[in-house]
Parts: sequence; structure tokens; C-alpha cells
Amino acid sequence: MDTNKTILCVGLVCIDLKTIVQTYPLEDSGQRTLDTIKERGGNASNTATVLSSIGCNVEFLGTVADCENINFLRSDCSEYGINIENCAVCPKTKCPLSVVIINTENGSRTILHSNKSLRELKCEDFMKLDLKKYKWIHFEGRPNRDEIYLMMNHVRKYNNSVDDEDKIVISLEIEKIRPVLLDDLIELADYTFLSKDYARYLDYDDMTSCVKGMSDEKGKTIFCAWGEQGAAAKNPDGPIVTSKAFKPPQVKDTTGAGDTFIAGCIYSLCRNLSLGNCIEIGCRLAGAKCGIMGLKDIHSVKKIILNKIDNFKLDYKTY
Ligand code: FRU
Repeated sequence: MDTNKTILCVGLVCIDLKTIVQTYPLEDSGQRTLDTIKERGGNASNTATVLSSIGCNVEFLGTVADCENINFLRSDCSEYGINIENCAVCPKTKCPLSVVIINTENGSRTILHSNKSLRELKCEDFMKLDLKKYKWIHFEGRPNRDEIYLMMNHVRKYNNSVDDEDKIVISLEIEKIRPVLLDDLIELADYTFLSKDYARYLDYDDMTSCVKGMSDEKGKTIFCAWGEQGAAAKNPDGPIVTSKAFKPPQVKDTTGAGDTFIAGCIYSLCRNLSLGNCIEIGCRLAGAKCGIMGLKDIHSVKKIILNKIDNFKLDYKTY
């Protein structure tokens, strides 16, 4: 795979207003917080941030409201080297915003998200892209299921028209339980990341039965991260592989840990690591993320991750 080509992350970008509290607030009370931080958030946007921080060429595609926050989002993306030139700028709308309560007692994040008016991405926005630039396209499963379906099919058609080395790898994240069924998108993706919540919604009680059941059903590679228990993955024709979680000495902020796990897996898959090694890198990166506030310092673990990858290559496993 041409490592210089771009990884495109398609989905949500929003504002995260993180309020850091010593103890979780009581309803109808007044209390001082330790700090309030404004950050760029959204699953696909977070995955893009981590990928870029560990050295990938990254583009983000989504809708962006033309409101007072657009300059903040633009300058933040440019600071991280994330290309947003193809985003659909929507006039007269407000940027989606999350108020995130971070409890320092346990690092838990409570997300209160609002999106009053920003529309979702349409396939016609996606059609403007020059697909030759990309080696990987990651889709965040959102309520615009039908449009995502068309976008994924567009990439698959493109893949049918090019040589093997130019084919674009497609990945998909299904995290939230949506009013629309997203399961049938799995058949269009090479790799799908299911959250613990989504696995439970599908009636699975643990990560291993989820990856086994879903990869058997769909004939595709499935990943499932399960918080403190780590993660599991399965190729349709391989064994179930698992990794433990790598809990940091102090859990500071778990916001975006799942998005970081996905970035670690994509990064490792691009380097042809075995599936077991990929989830270990994903879990290590997600664990490191939980030990820092936001994603600003995630680049500091790049060296550790690269060393780990070198060790894996010396001790190569085929599954
Ligand atoms: C974390 C996150 C936050 C955002 C929220 C949107 O995964 O992407 O950055 O506020 O989820 O649902």
C-alpha cells in the first residue's frame, strides 16, 4: 500500500466544551469546575486527529456550519495538518456542540450533544472527491445511512475500475444505536468497528461472541472494543483474536477513546500487521489517550507505538 496516499475520515466534526469537575454535579446545584476547555470533537474528526498525530496524511470530510465556530475548526484542523478542503460548508446553520462533563474521580465522560440544524453529508458532496488521492476511506455510521450506502458503493465501483494496488480500503464505524439500521453497510466495508453499546443492541453479551457472530453472518472482518476488557477482532476465515486494555496510571479523560482505538487499528492495518497486533496497537493507543486530557498530546506516544510495531515485525504472527 502506498503509505503517502491519504486516509479520508468521513463523518461528524463538532465542538466539545469539556467541563472538568472534581465530583459529578448534583442536579439544581451550583459548583465550581476545575476548568472548561473548548476542543474539536466528533468521531470521524477525532480519528482523523489521532491518525494525523501519529504521522499519516489525513483528510476529513463532513458538513461544517458557517457560524462563529468555523474559524476555530479551520485553524484547529490546520494545526493538526488535517485537510478539510472538501468539506461542505452550510450557511445559516449552527455547529453541533457537545457539553462534556469530565469527572476527575474516574475519568468518565458524560456527553450532552446538540445538533439543531446542521445537515448530514450527501453522496453528491462525496462525488466531488478525486478518489485517486486516497488509500483508505473510513466512514462513521450516522443517520444518513442511505447516503453513506451510496458513497460506499461509489468507492466500490471505483475499486472495480482500478488495479489492485490502487484499490481503496473501506472501513466503517457503528457506535450509536440509530433510528435507521446500519447493519447492511457492513457488507460494503472491508473492516467494521462495532462499539460495546452496538454489540449489546445486537444481543451480544461480550466482545468475542460479537466478532464471531458478526463476521460469520457478514463474511467480513469485525472489530469490537469493550472498554476496560480490551478488544476482539475476527477475519471471516481466521481465529478470534483479543487484546487486553492498557489502563494508564491515572484515567484523565476517556472522550474519544473508541475513536482513538479505530485510528490505531487503521494505522496498523495500513502497515500489514496481523489482526491480533492491530488490536493491541489500538488498545495501547486508546489506553494512552485515556491518560491525557483531550488529544493534544497523543503525538507523544507515537515513538512507543512505532517501537512496538517494530517488535511485532520481528516476531511476526500470521493471524
Ligand atoms: C467522542 C465524540 C465527541 C463528541 C461526541 C459526538 O467519541 O466524538 O468528541 O462530542 O462523541 O457524539
